[in-house]
Amino acid sequence: MLVACWSVKGGSGTTVVAAATGLLLAASGHDVLVVDLAGDIPAALGIPQPGGPGVADWLAAGRDVEGDALARLEVEAGPHLAVVPAGRHLPDEPARAEQLAEALAADGRVSVVDCGSAPTNTSMAVASAAGLSLLVLRPCYLALRRALQAPADPSAVVLVGEPQRSLGKSDVEDVLGLEVRAAVPWRPAIATAVDAGLLGRRLPSPLERALRGLVETVAA
Ligand SMILES: Nc1ncnc2c1ncn2[C@@H]1O[C@H](COP(=O)(O)OP(=O)(O)OP(=O)(O)O)[C@@H](O)[C@H]1O
Ligand SMILES: [Mg+2]
Repeated sequence: MLVACWSVKGGSGTTVVAAATGLLLAASGHDVLVVDLAGDIPAALGIPQPGGPGVADWLAAGRDVEGDALARLEVEAGPHLAVVPAGRHLPDEPARAEQLAEALAADGRVSVVDCGSAPTNTSMAVASAAGLSLLVLRPCYLALRRALQAPADPSAVVLVGEPQRSLGKSDVEDVLGLEVRAAVPWRPAIATAVDAGLLGRRLPSPLERALRGLVETVAA
């Protein structure tokens, strides 16, 4: 199973949703690989930033890399959880990104890819090939406008924001014609856990509650 998390506007909570989804799946006993196309996953999980090559280098290297080259990039991030770090500059290689999606889909584990918030041909090729492509969206008019022109078709939306915002779940579903699969509240406790590098140790309960249903369907 390949899950892609992406957004059309910076700072939407994409990395937090991707990291938390990976952590929840791992905590429920699934073997999980989190692939970082955007660069913040190690910091969000509270693990040291790997200095060496990463998925960007695998993409840039082309087909000639050895079969286990992707596996050799993995770093352990906890029980049942491994990360493929971002590496250097993400190349514009959509055909190679499709090969990445194929390799991840063929892996026995669940893969969660942080595709970032600045869509590129490469990241959108992965999102388009994912079994579950999640658009992470703040419930704001400007984000919604951009989502209407998104460069890939998501399978569903994860809404991240204050419940009192004038744009609610049903407005977003009506405008985009997509299901809101999870609504993550915007809470200081979540930001504090990320800032302290503690997300990987103990997921804040509002985040866990919000993503539990989504994670159960992925794991089923
Ligand atoms: N649900 C939330 N409640 C409170 N703060 C949050 C929440 N989700 C994310 N944040 C905070 O907002 C900031 C941006 O989150 P995050 O890095 O996940 O967004 P992003 O969409 O991945 O951003 P980028 O465009 O940099 O990739 C972080 O400081 C994070 O701690
Ligand atoms: Mg991010």
